[in-house]
Amino acid sequence: MAIPEQFIDELVARNEISDVVSSYVTLTRKGGNLWGLCPFHSEKTPSFSVSADKQIYHCFGCGKGGGVISFIMEIENLPFPDAVRLLAQRAGLAMPETGENEGYRRRRERLLALNKEAARYFHRQLQSPQGAAGAAYLFEKRKLSRGTVTRFGLGMAPDSWDSLINAMAELGYDKRDLLDAGLAVDSKKGRIYDRFRNRVMFPIIDVRGDVIGFGGRVLDDGTPKYLNSPDTSVYNKSRNLFALNIAKKSRLGRMILTEGYMDTISLHQAGFDCAVASLGTALTAEHAQLLARYTKEAVIAYDGDGAGVAAAQRAIPILERTGLKVKVLRMAGAKDPDEYIKSYGREAFARLLDQSENHIEYRLRQVRQRYDLADDAQKVEFLREAVGVVASLHSAVEREIYGGRMAAEAGVAPEAMALEVKKELSRRLRQEKKKQERRDLTPAAQLQPKSRGLRYENMRSARAEEGVIRLLLLDPALFAQTGELEATQFSAPVLGKIYGLLQERRRTGLSTQLASLASALEPEEMSLAALVLDQPEDLSRSGQALHDYIETIRTEALRRAEGDSPGALLAAREKYRETKGYGG
Ligand code: CTP
Ligand code: MN
Repeated sequence: MAIPEQFIDELVARNEISDVVSSYVTLTRKGGNLWGLCPFHSEKTPSFSVSADKQIYHCFGCGKGGGVISFIMEIENLPFPDAVRLLAQRAGLAMPETGENEGYRRRRERLLALNKEAARYFHRQLQSPQGAAGAAYLFEKRKLSRGTVTRFGLGMAPDSWDSLINAMAELGYDKRDLLDAGLAVDSKKGRIYDRFRNRVMFPIIDVRGDVIGFGGRVLDDGTPKYLNSPDTSVYNKSRNLFALNIAKKSRLGRMILTEGYMDTISLHQAGFDCAVASLGTALTAEHAQLLARYTKEAVIAYDGDGAGVAAAQRAIPILERTGLKVKVLRMAGAKDPDEYIKSYGREAFARLLDQSENHIEYRLRQVRQRYDLADDAQKVEFLREAVGVVASLHSAVEREIYGGRMAAEAGVAPEAMALEVKKELSRRLRQEKKKQERRDLTPAAQLQPKSRGLRYENMRSARAEEGVIRLLLLDPALFAQTGELEATQFSAPVLGKIYGLLQERRRTGLSTQLASLASALEPEEMSLAALVLDQPEDLSRSGQALHDYIETIRTEALRRAEGDSPGALLAAREKYRETKGYGG
């Protein structure tokens, strides 16, 4: 029986691996991972690790590994469909019926229809006595216009435990529907109650115009300030951006990325109809790719506080990796864009937008702010740190421009600065090389796969093939940079198979996380994939790393094909360098 892939994705999303494993193994945190005694072989010291980031488990002792479905298959000794059924039960998900795809699609449609009715209901409350407090909040306190409230479909959830449940029951929606849509919560006594109570409601609408979830804000200083829909079969917070349904039609030529509902709505009301927000979660690679589909330039307009600055710094490389031009808005005198516009008006914000710095200027200013350049000792420290930032830039042109600018700022000769940057660059190169050598010498890197059937013929190529797979699993945005690399160029059949599967899933819009490959891979293959994913990888230079891995794979493939004929090999290498070469 074929279980729809979308269902598998949801199943994996709703079964957090550390929770599932914890019911079988006692786990303790050590470093970034959780560790315990391996349930698959007998041991006295823990070599079994679970990574919540990567959603995998992996035992350094016996080599078993995989995602949450593989874990259940292994530990309960179940075939794939039964493991899926068990996990579905655990997460309270109804298994799709026979004619599964059709059943699943119909279920989604029903939940979307329910969400739309719920949004209408909340919106209507604003005109009723029950919703008067919400209307006062939105119109008077937050100064939103009728037009804005209508455009965003804002609403009010009454101060009641069951008003939405009752209203939706009249339209034919039952307990199961409301729970699945995340609109109601189970009281554990078999009763359900409204999740959103006495809150102003922000419907979250996807690019197709479907209401997929909600955010609700308290009217006072209660907590939590915002309550959001949980992830459901129609809503995934890592893959959706608030207001993108409107912003995608903007003619302003860029997107403004904010931290929240109110910032985005305020910007729209002030005429900046290109604002979007990632909601209740840090920006993900998937958010960035979604954004890149609709624009070439992203301006980060996060809060001006420490958390906002830190979040902006994390968001920059994620956005950059998709090829977006990234700028950062510099806001002083207000906490967030909403307050800024209220205090200084839309013209002032437009000026900010025009002056927003590219991400390099932003990073350098963060450095400059910490030093008093009138003090010689501090000046030296400033230069040392600035050299670090400049040396991290990928192109020689950028290094020259910004290096020169920093030199002028500190009153030193640009040549002196350039020399320091050069030294720093070669120091980094040496370090990188050492790190690579050390990596090659670690036992894990020297080892052949545990399973004899999967032995590597060409170690050098296999390492690079593992690297490509690891990078793609860690950062799906990199799929865009795999160019013409094909599974047939892989030296290790198992790695070629994994790469081919990932590419195929990517093409057809399925998730490319390791856990969802459970039915397509043999247990030994899955274990190998988990081992590969568990190796360290420096993501700060992932584009360059991917490029290097691919070059190694191609070179080795050519070497095999041409029986080591050096002339042809060199020529092909040169050609590849010309077309794909990185500048700088
Ligand atoms: N957020 C959340 N849960 C919270 C607090 C915040 O999900 N308990 C998310 C919301 O999406 C919110 C965003 O983080 O919009 C930014 O939070 P914050 O800066 O605290 O709120 P503001 O946008 O300034 O909201 P307001 O102006 O309504 O106070
Ligand atoms: Mn605010």
